Amino acid sequence: MNEEQRLNSGLLKPGLSKSAEEKDYSHYFESVYTPPSLKDARKRGQEEIKYHDDFKIDERFIGMGKGRKFLIRTYGCQMNEHDTEVMAGIFMGLGYEPTDTVEDANIILLNTCAIRENAENKVFGELGHLKPLKQRNPDVLIGVCGCMSQEESVVNKILKTYDQVDMIFGTHNIHRLPHILHEAYMSKEMVIEVWSNEGDIIENLPKVRHGNIKAWVNIMYGCDKFCTYCIVPYTRGKERSRRPADIIQEIRQLAAQGYQEITLLGQNVNAYGKDFDDVVYGLGDLMDDLRKIDIARVRFTTSHPRDFDDDLIEVLAKGGNLVEHIHLPVQSGSSAILKIMGRIYTREEFLLLVRKIKEAIPGVALTTDIIVGFPNETDEQFEETMTLYEEVGFETAFTYIYSPRDGTPAAKMKDNIPMEVKKARLQRLNQLVNDYSAKAMKPYEGEIVEVLVEGASKRNDEVLAGYTRKSKLVNFKAPQSVIGKLVNVKITAAKTWSLDGEFLGVVEKEEVMS
Ligand code: 5AD
Ligand code: SF4
Repeated sequence: MNEEQRLNSGLLKPGLSKSAEEKDYSHYFESVYTPPSLKDARKRGQEEIKYHDDFKIDERFIGMGKGRKFLIRTYGCQMNEHDTEVMAGIFMGLGYEPTDTVEDANIILLNTCAIRENAENKVFGELGHLKPLKQRNPDVLIGVCGCMSQEESVVNKILKTYDQVDMIFGTHNIHRLPHILHEAYMSKEMVIEVWSNEGDIIENLPKVRHGNIKAWVNIMYGCDKFCTYCIVPYTRGKERSRRPADIIQEIRQLAAQGYQEITLLGQNVNAYGKDFDDVVYGLGDLMDDLRKIDIARVRFTTSHPRDFDDDLIEVLAKGGNLVEHIHLPVQSGSSAILKIMGRIYTREEFLLLVRKIKEAIPGVALTTDIIVGFPNETDEQFEETMTLYEEVGFETAFTYIYSPRDGTPAAKMKDNIPMEVKKARLQRLNQLVNDYSAKAMKPYEGEIVEVLVEGASKRNDEVLAGYTRKSKLVNFKAPQSVIGKLVNVKITAAKTWSLDGEFLGVVEKEEVMS
Protein backbone atom coordinates (compact mmCIF):
# COMPACT_ATOMS: atom_id res chain seq x y z
CA MET A 1 0.00 0.00 0.00
CA ASN A 2 1.42 3.41 -0.92
CA GLU A 3 1.34 6.59 1.11
CA GLU A 4 -1.60 7.99 -0.83
CA GLN A 5 -3.68 4.89 -0.21
CA ARG A 6 -2.79 5.02 3.46
CA LEU A 7 -3.96 8.61 3.64
CA ASN A 8 -7.13 7.80 1.69
CA SER A 9 -7.80 4.95 4.05
CA GLY A 10 -8.42 7.48 6.79
CA LEU A 11 -6.08 5.62 9.09
CA LEU A 12 -3.60 8.47 9.20
CA LYS A 13 -6.13 11.25 9.19
CA PRO A 14 -6.57 13.45 12.22
CA GLY A 15 -9.51 12.49 14.36
CA LEU A 16 -8.40 8.96 15.02
CA SER A 17 -7.69 8.15 18.61
CA LYS A 18 -4.08 8.24 19.68
CA SER A 19 -4.02 4.51 20.14
CA ALA A 20 -4.98 3.93 16.52
CA GLU A 21 -2.49 6.51 15.24
CA GLU A 22 0.33 5.27 17.38
CA LYS A 23 -0.05 1.64 16.46
CA ASP A 24 2.50 0.51 13.94
CA TYR A 25 0.60 -1.10 11.09
CA SER A 26 3.51 -1.04 8.66
CA HIS A 27 4.36 -4.72 9.04
CA TYR A 28 1.12 -5.73 7.46
CA PHE A 29 0.26 -2.88 5.15
CA GLU A 30 1.68 -4.89 2.26
CA SER A 31 -0.22 -8.06 3.04
CA VAL A 32 -3.45 -7.98 4.97
CA TYR A 33 -4.25 -4.30 5.38
CA THR A 34 -6.65 -3.56 2.50
CA PRO A 35 -9.14 -0.97 3.73
CA PRO A 36 -12.35 -0.11 1.87
CA SER A 37 -12.77 2.84 -0.48
CA LEU A 38 -16.25 4.09 -1.41
CA LYS A 39 -14.63 6.06 -4.24
CA ASP A 40 -13.29 2.86 -5.80
CA ALA A 41 -16.55 1.06 -5.10
CA ARG A 42 -18.40 3.60 -7.22
CA LYS A 43 -16.34 2.78 -10.31
CA ARG A 44 -17.96 0.62 -12.96
CA GLY A 45 -15.26 -0.68 -15.34
CA GLN A 46 -15.67 -2.57 -18.57
CA GLU A 47 -13.51 -5.50 -17.40
CA GLU A 48 -14.85 -8.88 -18.28
CA ILE A 49 -16.43 -10.88 -15.45
CA LYS A 50 -14.25 -13.82 -14.52
CA TYR A 51 -15.93 -17.03 -13.44
CA HIS A 52 -14.02 -19.39 -11.16
CA ASP A 53 -14.89 -22.91 -10.16
CA ASP A 54 -11.57 -23.79 -8.61
CA PHE A 55 -12.22 -22.76 -5.02
CA LYS A 56 -10.52 -25.12 -2.67
CA ILE A 57 -9.33 -24.84 0.89
CA ASP A 58 -5.55 -24.65 0.95
CA GLU A 59 -4.05 -27.85 2.41
CA ARG A 60 -2.19 -25.87 5.07
CA PHE A 61 -5.48 -24.58 6.53
CA ILE A 62 -7.33 -27.90 6.69
CA GLY A 63 -7.83 -28.84 10.33
CA MET A 64 -7.43 -25.21 11.44
CA GLY A 65 -10.80 -25.45 13.15
CA LYS A 66 -10.31 -28.78 14.86
CA GLY A 67 -11.69 -28.53 18.40
CA ARG A 68 -12.96 -25.00 17.70
CA LYS A 69 -16.50 -23.65 17.31
CA PHE A 70 -17.88 -20.79 15.21
CA LEU A 71 -20.93 -18.57 15.60
CA ILE A 72 -22.18 -16.19 12.90
CA ARG A 73 -24.73 -13.47 13.73
CA THR A 74 -26.50 -12.33 10.58
CA TYR A 75 -28.12 -8.92 10.09
CA GLY A 76 -30.08 -7.60 7.12
CA CYS A 77 -31.30 -9.15 3.91
CA GLN A 78 -31.49 -12.65 2.40
CA MET A 79 -28.25 -12.00 0.53
CA ASN A 80 -26.50 -11.78 3.89
CA GLU A 81 -28.31 -14.88 5.17
CA HIS A 82 -27.06 -16.73 2.14
CA ASP A 83 -23.49 -15.41 2.56
CA THR A 84 -23.66 -16.78 6.09
CA GLU A 85 -24.50 -20.21 4.64
CA VAL A 86 -21.38 -19.97 2.47
CA MET A 87 -19.17 -18.90 5.37
CA ALA A 88 -20.59 -21.75 7.47
CA GLY A 89 -19.63 -24.09 4.61
CA ILE A 90 -16.06 -22.77 4.66
CA PHE A 91 -15.85 -23.05 8.46
CA MET A 92 -17.03 -26.65 8.30
CA GLY A 93 -14.47 -27.34 5.55
CA LEU A 94 -11.80 -26.04 7.91
CA GLY A 95 -12.93 -28.42 10.64
CA TYR A 96 -14.86 -25.97 12.85
CA GLU A 97 -18.16 -26.94 14.44
CA PRO A 98 -21.16 -24.61 14.71
CA THR A 99 -22.51 -23.30 18.01
CA ASP A 100 -25.42 -21.04 18.98
CA THR A 101 -23.88 -20.02 22.28
CA VAL A 102 -21.56 -17.03 22.48
CA GLU A 103 -19.77 -18.47 25.52
CA ASP A 104 -18.92 -21.67 23.62
CA ALA A 105 -17.66 -19.98 20.48
CA ASN A 106 -13.98 -19.69 19.64
CA ILE A 107 -14.82 -17.35 16.81
CA ILE A 108 -17.73 -14.94 16.49
CA LEU A 109 -18.53 -13.23 13.19
CA LEU A 110 -21.01 -10.40 12.76
CA ASN A 111 -22.31 -10.45 9.19
CA THR A 112 -23.52 -6.88 9.00
CA CYS A 113 -26.05 -4.70 7.16
CA ALA A 114 -25.42 -1.07 6.14
CA ILE A 115 -28.77 -0.16 4.65
CA ARG A 116 -29.90 2.17 7.45
CA GLU A 117 -28.27 3.77 10.47
CA ASN A 118 -30.26 1.70 12.97
CA ALA A 119 -29.00 -1.53 11.34
CA GLU A 120 -25.45 -0.28 11.93
CA ASN A 121 -26.18 0.80 15.48
CA LYS A 122 -27.33 -2.72 16.33
CA VAL A 123 -23.95 -4.05 15.26
CA PHE A 124 -22.00 -1.45 17.23
CA GLY A 125 -24.18 -2.32 20.23
CA GLU A 126 -23.41 -6.01 19.80
CA LEU A 127 -19.69 -5.27 19.53
CA GLY A 128 -19.99 -3.41 22.82
CA HIS A 129 -21.60 -6.45 24.44
CA LEU A 130 -18.78 -8.67 23.19
CA LYS A 131 -16.06 -6.57 24.80
CA PRO A 132 -16.25 -8.14 28.30
CA LEU A 133 -16.18 -11.59 26.66
CA LYS A 134 -13.01 -10.70 24.79
CA GLN A 135 -11.49 -9.36 28.02
CA ARG A 136 -12.34 -12.58 29.86
CA ASN A 137 -11.19 -14.74 26.99
CA PRO A 138 -8.63 -13.00 24.77
CA ASP A 139 -8.31 -16.12 22.62
CA VAL A 140 -11.80 -15.75 21.20
CA LEU A 141 -11.65 -14.19 17.71
CA ILE A 142 -14.19 -11.49 16.85
CA GLY A 143 -14.80 -10.55 13.22
CA VAL A 144 -16.92 -8.06 11.32
CA CYS A 145 -17.92 -8.85 7.75
CA GLY A 146 -20.78 -8.02 5.37
CA CYS A 147 -21.88 -4.63 4.08
CA MET A 148 -20.67 -2.42 6.94
CA SER A 149 -17.10 -3.59 6.37
CA GLN A 150 -17.20 -2.01 2.92
CA GLU A 151 -17.56 1.48 4.46
CA GLU A 152 -14.47 3.52 5.28
CA SER A 153 -16.23 5.33 8.11
CA VAL A 154 -17.15 2.05 9.79
CA VAL A 155 -13.67 0.56 9.49
CA ASN A 156 -12.17 3.75 10.92
CA LYS A 157 -14.65 3.75 13.81
CA ILE A 158 -13.84 0.13 14.62
CA LEU A 159 -10.10 0.85 14.48
CA LYS A 160 -10.60 3.79 16.79
CA THR A 161 -12.98 2.43 19.39
CA TYR A 162 -13.55 -1.30 19.10
CA ASP A 163 -10.22 -2.96 19.77
CA GLN A 164 -12.04 -6.17 20.69
CA VAL A 165 -12.34 -6.77 16.93
CA ASP A 166 -9.67 -9.06 15.45
CA MET A 167 -10.63 -8.99 11.79
CA ILE A 168 -12.71 -7.11 9.26
CA PHE A 169 -13.37 -8.46 5.80
CA GLY A 170 -15.65 -7.41 2.99
CA THR A 171 -18.44 -8.87 0.89
CA HIS A 172 -16.00 -9.63 -1.95
CA ASN A 173 -13.56 -11.42 0.36
CA ILE A 174 -15.70 -14.27 1.66
CA HIS A 175 -13.75 -16.88 -0.30
CA ARG A 176 -10.61 -15.56 1.40
CA LEU A 177 -11.94 -16.55 4.84
CA PRO A 178 -9.34 -19.32 5.43
CA HIS A 179 -6.46 -16.88 4.76
CA ILE A 180 -8.05 -14.13 6.82
CA LEU A 181 -8.55 -16.49 9.78
CA HIS A 182 -4.97 -17.67 9.48
CA GLU A 183 -3.73 -14.06 9.54
CA ALA A 184 -5.98 -13.28 12.51
CA TYR A 185 -4.49 -16.17 14.50
CA MET A 186 -0.96 -15.13 13.59
CA SER A 187 -1.24 -11.37 13.96
CA LYS A 188 -1.58 -9.32 17.09
CA GLU A 189 -3.13 -6.47 15.13
CA MET A 190 -6.54 -6.16 13.54
CA VAL A 191 -6.62 -7.92 10.16
CA ILE A 192 -8.46 -5.92 7.49
CA GLU A 193 -9.16 -7.19 4.01
CA VAL A 194 -11.85 -5.32 2.11
CA TRP A 195 -11.76 -5.24 -1.68
CA SER A 196 -13.80 -2.38 -3.04
CA ASN A 197 -14.10 -3.20 -6.67
CA GLU A 198 -14.39 -6.84 -7.49
CA GLY A 199 -15.88 -8.32 -10.62
CA ASP A 200 -15.43 -12.05 -10.19
CA ILE A 201 -17.91 -14.85 -9.54
CA ILE A 202 -16.80 -17.92 -7.64
CA GLU A 203 -19.05 -20.84 -8.41
CA ASN A 204 -18.08 -23.70 -6.21
CA LEU A 205 -18.04 -22.22 -2.72
CA PRO A 206 -19.24 -24.70 -0.10
CA LYS A 207 -22.58 -24.02 1.64
CA VAL A 208 -24.31 -25.23 4.76
CA ARG A 209 -27.93 -24.36 4.05
CA HIS A 210 -30.32 -23.41 6.79
CA GLY A 211 -33.01 -26.11 6.73
CA ASN A 212 -33.95 -28.51 3.94
CA ILE A 213 -37.28 -27.12 2.75
CA LYS A 214 -36.53 -23.72 1.22
CA ALA A 215 -33.27 -22.59 -0.36
CA TRP A 216 -31.79 -19.33 -1.58
CA VAL A 217 -29.97 -19.26 -4.88
CA ASN A 218 -27.97 -16.24 -6.00
CA ILE A 219 -28.56 -15.39 -9.63
CA MET A 220 -26.63 -12.15 -9.67
CA TYR A 221 -24.49 -9.97 -7.47
CA GLY A 222 -24.19 -6.21 -7.09
CA CYS A 223 -26.25 -3.29 -8.33
CA ASP A 224 -25.62 -0.57 -10.92
CA LYS A 225 -28.80 1.39 -10.29
CA PHE A 226 -27.29 3.83 -7.78
CA CYS A 227 -30.59 5.05 -6.34
CA THR A 228 -29.44 8.23 -4.62
CA TYR A 229 -30.24 7.06 -1.06
CA CYS A 230 -28.78 3.58 -1.32
CA ILE A 231 -25.43 2.23 -0.13
CA VAL A 232 -25.81 -1.19 -1.78
CA PRO A 233 -24.09 -0.42 -5.11
CA TYR A 234 -21.03 0.58 -3.04
CA THR A 235 -21.09 -2.37 -0.64
CA ARG A 236 -21.95 -5.07 -3.18
CA GLY A 237 -20.15 -3.86 -6.30
CA LYS A 238 -21.13 -3.94 -9.93
CA GLU A 239 -23.90 -6.06 -11.43
CA ARG A 240 -22.66 -9.47 -12.45
CA SER A 241 -24.83 -12.42 -13.38
CA ARG A 242 -24.17 -16.08 -12.83
CA ARG A 243 -24.26 -18.22 -15.97
CA PRO A 244 -27.69 -19.80 -16.56
CA ALA A 245 -26.28 -23.33 -16.68
CA ASP A 246 -24.72 -22.94 -13.21
CA ILE A 247 -27.98 -21.68 -11.72
CA ILE A 248 -30.07 -24.38 -13.38
CA GLN A 249 -27.69 -27.09 -12.24
CA GLU A 250 -27.75 -25.81 -8.64
CA ILE A 251 -31.57 -25.76 -8.62
CA ARG A 252 -31.82 -29.24 -10.17
CA GLN A 253 -29.56 -30.51 -7.40
CA LEU A 254 -31.66 -28.79 -4.74
CA ALA A 255 -34.81 -30.33 -6.24
CA ALA A 256 -33.16 -33.76 -6.21
CA GLN A 257 -32.25 -33.24 -2.53
CA GLY A 258 -35.94 -32.64 -1.76
CA TYR A 259 -36.06 -28.84 -1.44
CA GLN A 260 -39.55 -27.56 -2.25
CA GLU A 261 -39.02 -23.85 -2.70
CA ILE A 262 -36.31 -21.71 -4.25
CA THR A 263 -35.89 -17.97 -3.87
CA LEU A 264 -33.67 -16.45 -6.53
CA LEU A 265 -31.58 -13.67 -5.05
CA GLY A 266 -30.13 -10.49 -6.43
CA GLN A 267 -30.16 -6.80 -5.52
CA ASN A 268 -31.87 -6.04 -8.82
CA VAL A 269 -32.87 -9.40 -10.30
CA ASN A 270 -34.58 -7.75 -13.27
CA ALA A 271 -31.16 -6.74 -14.56
CA TYR A 272 -30.20 -10.42 -14.69
CA GLY A 273 -28.24 -11.24 -17.86
CA LYS A 274 -27.75 -7.66 -19.01
CA ASP A 275 -24.02 -8.11 -18.49
CA PHE A 276 -23.76 -11.14 -20.82
CA ASP A 277 -22.10 -10.22 -24.07
CA ASP A 278 -22.42 -13.62 -25.77
CA VAL A 279 -26.11 -14.43 -25.27
CA VAL A 280 -29.39 -12.58 -24.98
CA TYR A 281 -30.85 -14.19 -21.87
CA GLY A 282 -32.76 -12.35 -19.18
CA LEU A 283 -34.78 -13.12 -16.06
CA GLY A 284 -37.78 -14.12 -18.21
CA ASP A 285 -35.68 -16.73 -20.01
CA LEU A 286 -34.31 -18.03 -16.74
CA MET A 287 -37.76 -18.32 -15.16
CA ASP A 288 -39.01 -20.11 -18.27
CA ASP A 289 -36.21 -22.65 -17.89
CA LEU A 290 -36.81 -23.04 -14.15
CA ARG A 291 -40.50 -23.67 -14.79
CA LYS A 292 -39.48 -26.99 -16.30
CA ILE A 293 -37.67 -28.16 -13.16
CA ASP A 294 -39.62 -30.43 -10.84
CA ILE A 295 -39.62 -28.19 -7.77
CA ALA A 296 -42.84 -26.88 -6.21
CA ARG A 297 -42.19 -23.14 -5.99
CA VAL A 298 -39.82 -20.57 -7.45
CA ARG A 299 -39.73 -16.95 -6.24
CA PHE A 300 -37.34 -14.07 -6.78
CA THR A 301 -36.29 -10.96 -4.91
CA THR A 302 -35.75 -8.07 -5.31
CA SER A 303 -37.24 -6.42 -8.36
CA HIS A 304 -36.63 -2.99 -9.80
CA PRO A 305 -39.71 -1.74 -11.68
CA ARG A 306 -37.60 -0.11 -14.37
CA ASP A 307 -36.20 -3.39 -15.68
CA PHE A 308 -39.37 -5.46 -15.19
CA ASP A 309 -40.04 -6.36 -18.82
CA ASP A 310 -42.92 -7.86 -20.80
CA ASP A 311 -41.02 -11.10 -21.42
CA LEU A 312 -40.88 -11.74 -17.70
CA ILE A 313 -44.57 -10.93 -17.22
CA GLU A 314 -45.48 -13.32 -20.04
CA VAL A 315 -43.46 -16.14 -18.46
CA LEU A 316 -44.78 -15.52 -14.93
CA ALA A 317 -48.31 -15.74 -16.34
CA LYS A 318 -47.63 -19.37 -17.22
CA GLY A 319 -47.81 -20.20 -13.50
CA GLY A 320 -46.84 -23.75 -12.59
CA ASN A 321 -44.06 -23.51 -10.06
CA LEU A 322 -43.76 -19.72 -10.61
CA VAL A 323 -45.73 -18.21 -7.75
CA GLU A 324 -48.26 -15.37 -7.98
CA HIS A 325 -46.45 -13.08 -5.56
CA ILE A 326 -44.21 -10.25 -6.71
CA HIS A 327 -42.29 -7.97 -4.38
CA LEU A 328 -42.02 -4.72 -6.29
CA PRO A 329 -40.40 -1.88 -4.33
CA VAL A 330 -41.91 1.46 -5.33
CA GLN A 331 -40.21 3.65 -2.65
CA SER A 332 -42.52 6.66 -3.24
CA GLY A 333 -45.78 7.54 -4.97
CA SER A 334 -44.56 10.96 -6.05
CA SER A 335 -42.89 11.36 -9.45
CA ALA A 336 -40.90 14.35 -8.16
CA ILE A 337 -39.49 12.34 -5.23
CA LEU A 338 -38.87 9.30 -7.46
CA LYS A 339 -36.85 11.61 -9.68
CA ILE A 340 -34.54 12.81 -6.90
CA MET A 341 -34.31 9.26 -5.61
CA GLY A 342 -32.92 8.34 -9.05
CA ARG A 343 -35.50 5.60 -9.53
CA ILE A 344 -35.89 6.30 -13.30
CA TYR A 345 -39.67 5.78 -13.42
CA THR A 346 -42.67 7.95 -12.68
CA ARG A 347 -45.78 7.21 -10.65
CA GLU A 348 -47.68 6.75 -13.93
CA GLU A 349 -45.11 4.30 -15.34
CA PHE A 350 -45.22 2.29 -12.13
CA LEU A 351 -49.03 2.13 -12.26
CA LEU A 352 -48.89 1.05 -15.90
CA LEU A 353 -46.52 -1.78 -14.98
CA VAL A 354 -48.85 -2.85 -12.17
CA ARG A 355 -51.79 -2.85 -14.57
CA LYS A 356 -49.89 -5.07 -17.01
CA ILE A 357 -48.89 -7.49 -14.24
CA LYS A 358 -52.45 -7.69 -12.88
CA GLU A 359 -53.91 -8.30 -16.31
CA ALA A 360 -51.43 -11.07 -17.07
CA ILE A 361 -51.53 -12.72 -13.63
CA PRO A 362 -55.05 -12.49 -12.19
CA GLY A 363 -55.10 -12.40 -8.41
CA VAL A 364 -51.37 -11.63 -8.17
CA ALA A 365 -50.21 -10.52 -4.71
CA LEU A 366 -48.09 -7.39 -4.85
CA THR A 367 -45.95 -6.19 -1.96
CA THR A 368 -43.53 -3.30 -1.79
CA ASP A 369 -40.88 -1.22 0.00
CA ILE A 370 -41.50 2.44 0.82
CA ILE A 371 -39.27 5.18 2.20
CA VAL A 372 -40.88 8.17 3.94
CA GLY A 373 -39.26 11.49 4.80
CA PHE A 374 -36.85 11.62 1.87
CA PRO A 375 -35.26 15.12 1.64
CA ASN A 376 -37.79 17.71 0.42
CA GLU A 377 -40.77 15.33 0.61
CA THR A 378 -43.81 17.58 1.10
CA ASP A 379 -47.07 16.59 2.79
CA GLU A 380 -48.70 16.46 -0.66
CA GLN A 381 -45.98 14.20 -2.00
CA PHE A 382 -46.38 11.87 0.97
CA GLU A 383 -50.14 11.82 0.28
CA GLU A 384 -49.29 10.64 -3.23
CA THR A 385 -47.56 7.64 -1.67
CA MET A 386 -50.70 6.91 0.34
CA THR A 387 -52.96 7.11 -2.71
CA LEU A 388 -50.60 5.01 -4.81
CA TYR A 389 -50.65 2.33 -2.11
CA GLU A 390 -54.44 2.23 -2.26
CA GLU A 391 -54.57 2.36 -6.03
CA VAL A 392 -52.25 -0.65 -6.34
CA GLY A 393 -53.78 -2.41 -3.34
CA PHE A 394 -50.46 -3.77 -2.06
CA GLU A 395 -50.99 -6.70 0.30
CA THR A 396 -48.20 -5.62 2.61
CA ALA A 397 -45.06 -3.47 2.66
CA PHE A 398 -41.75 -2.89 4.36
CA THR A 399 -41.77 0.77 5.36
CA TYR A 400 -38.79 2.87 6.37
CA ILE A 401 -37.84 6.34 7.49
CA TYR A 402 -35.15 7.70 5.20
CA SER A 403 -31.70 7.26 6.69
CA PRO A 404 -28.80 9.24 5.16
CA ARG A 405 -25.91 6.97 4.13
CA ASP A 406 -22.42 8.43 4.00
CA GLY A 407 -21.03 8.64 0.48
CA THR A 408 -24.39 8.50 -1.32
CA PRO A 409 -25.69 11.49 -3.32
CA ALA A 410 -28.77 11.85 -1.09
CA ALA A 411 -26.56 12.26 1.98
CA LYS A 412 -25.41 15.57 0.47
CA MET A 413 -29.03 16.80 0.22
CA LYS A 414 -30.34 18.70 3.20
CA ASP A 415 -32.21 16.22 5.41
CA ASN A 416 -34.88 18.86 5.94
CA ILE A 417 -37.89 16.90 7.20
CA PRO A 418 -38.18 17.02 11.01
CA MET A 419 -38.09 13.59 12.71
CA GLU A 420 -41.57 14.09 14.23
CA VAL A 421 -42.96 14.62 10.72
CA LYS A 422 -41.15 11.52 9.41
CA LYS A 423 -42.48 9.46 12.31
CA ALA A 424 -46.03 10.73 11.85
CA ARG A 425 -45.89 9.85 8.15
CA LEU A 426 -44.54 6.40 8.91
CA GLN A 427 -47.29 5.83 11.44
CA ARG A 428 -50.00 6.82 8.99
CA LEU A 429 -48.51 4.66 6.29
CA ASN A 430 -48.19 1.69 8.64
CA GLN A 431 -51.85 2.01 9.57
CA LEU A 432 -52.71 1.81 5.88
CA VAL A 433 -50.38 -1.19 5.45
CA ASN A 434 -52.15 -2.94 8.36
CA ASP A 435 -55.58 -2.19 6.93
CA TYR A 436 -54.63 -3.51 3.51
CA SER A 437 -53.02 -6.61 4.98
CA ALA A 438 -56.22 -7.39 6.91
CA LYS A 439 -58.24 -6.68 3.78
CA ALA A 440 -56.09 -9.09 1.74
CA MET A 441 -56.52 -11.84 4.37
CA LYS A 442 -60.31 -11.63 4.75
CA PRO A 443 -61.35 -13.33 1.45
CA TYR A 444 -59.38 -16.43 2.42
CA GLU A 445 -61.96 -17.35 5.09
CA GLY A 446 -63.61 -20.58 4.03
CA GLU A 447 -61.11 -21.12 1.19
CA ILE A 448 -58.67 -24.02 0.78
CA VAL A 449 -55.02 -22.99 0.35
CA GLU A 450 -51.83 -24.87 -0.41
CA VAL A 451 -49.26 -24.42 2.38
CA LEU A 452 -45.60 -25.38 2.43
CA VAL A 453 -45.16 -26.49 6.03
CA GLU A 454 -42.02 -25.06 7.59
CA GLY A 455 -42.20 -26.20 11.19
CA ALA A 456 -43.91 -26.05 14.56
CA SER A 457 -44.98 -22.79 16.10
CA LYS A 458 -42.68 -21.65 18.90
CA ARG A 459 -45.41 -21.78 21.55
CA ASN A 460 -47.21 -24.98 20.69
CA ASP A 461 -45.68 -28.09 19.10
CA GLU A 462 -49.00 -29.18 17.72
CA VAL A 463 -49.50 -25.95 15.81
CA LEU A 464 -47.61 -25.95 12.53
CA ALA A 465 -46.90 -22.97 10.33
CA GLY A 466 -46.11 -22.41 6.69
CA TYR A 467 -46.67 -20.10 3.77
CA THR A 468 -48.99 -20.08 0.75
CA ARG A 469 -47.79 -19.38 -2.78
CA LYS A 470 -48.75 -15.74 -2.19
CA SER A 471 -46.61 -15.65 1.00
CA LYS A 472 -49.46 -15.71 3.51
CA LEU A 473 -48.54 -17.20 6.87
CA VAL A 474 -50.93 -20.00 7.89
CA ASN A 475 -51.17 -21.68 11.33
CA PHE A 476 -52.96 -25.00 11.77
CA LYS A 477 -52.88 -28.18 13.84
CA ALA A 478 -51.37 -31.22 12.14
CA PRO A 479 -48.91 -34.01 12.86
CA GLN A 480 -45.19 -33.09 12.79
CA SER A 481 -44.74 -35.62 9.97
CA VAL A 482 -46.10 -33.09 7.45
CA ILE A 483 -43.25 -30.64 8.07
CA GLY A 484 -41.53 -30.05 4.72
CA LYS A 485 -44.60 -31.08 2.74
CA LEU A 486 -47.20 -29.22 0.74
CA VAL A 487 -50.57 -29.55 2.42
CA ASN A 488 -54.11 -28.32 1.91
CA VAL A 489 -55.55 -26.18 4.69
CA LYS A 490 -59.07 -24.83 5.01
CA ILE A 491 -58.95 -21.28 6.37
CA THR A 492 -61.14 -20.75 9.41
CA ALA A 493 -60.08 -17.26 10.53
CA ALA A 494 -58.27 -14.35 8.91
CA LYS A 495 -56.13 -12.10 11.13
CA THR A 496 -54.17 -9.01 10.12
CA TRP A 497 -50.88 -10.78 9.43
CA SER A 498 -51.77 -14.47 9.32
CA LEU A 499 -54.46 -17.06 8.69
CA ASP A 500 -55.70 -19.86 10.94
CA GLY A 501 -56.93 -23.05 9.37
CA GLU A 502 -57.78 -26.74 9.51
CA PHE A 503 -55.46 -29.30 8.05
CA LEU A 504 -57.11 -31.29 5.25
CA GLY A 505 -54.30 -33.47 3.94
CA VAL A 506 -51.05 -33.66 2.02
CA VAL A 507 -51.16 -32.37 -1.57
CA GLU A 508 -50.56 -35.11 -4.13
CA LYS A 509 -47.71 -34.49 -6.54
CA GLU A 510 -49.87 -34.31 -9.73
CA GLU A 511 -51.97 -31.59 -8.11
CA VAL A 512 -48.86 -29.49 -7.49
CA MET A 513 -47.56 -29.56 -11.00
CA SER A 514 -50.93 -29.04 -12.69
N1 5AD B 1 -32.95 4.81 4.11
C1 5AD B 1 -34.12 4.16 4.32
N2 5AD B 1 -34.47 3.06 3.64
C2 5AD B 1 -33.62 2.59 2.71
N3 5AD B 1 -33.69 1.54 1.87
C3 5AD B 1 -32.57 1.49 1.13
N4 5AD B 1 -31.76 2.50 1.47
C4 5AD B 1 -32.39 3.21 2.45
C5 5AD B 1 -32.06 4.38 3.19
N5 5AD B 1 -30.92 5.03 2.99
C6 5AD B 1 -34.86 0.65 1.80
C7 5AD B 1 -35.49 0.64 0.41
C8 5AD B 1 -35.08 -0.70 -0.11
C9 5AD B 1 -35.04 -1.54 1.15
C10 5AD B 1 -34.26 -2.80 1.05
O1 5AD B 1 -34.45 -0.68 2.09
O2 5AD B 1 -36.89 0.71 0.58
O3 5AD B 1 -35.98 -1.22 -1.07
FE1 SF4 C 1 -30.32 0.05 -3.76
FE2 SF4 C 1 -32.19 -1.52 -4.89
FE3 SF4 C 1 -31.72 0.98 -5.87
FE4 SF4 C 1 -29.89 -1.02 -6.21
S1 SF4 C 1 -31.98 -0.89 -7.07
S2 SF4 C 1 -29.48 1.10 -5.58
S3 SF4 C 1 -30.10 -2.14 -4.26
S4 SF4 C 1 -32.56 0.44 -3.82
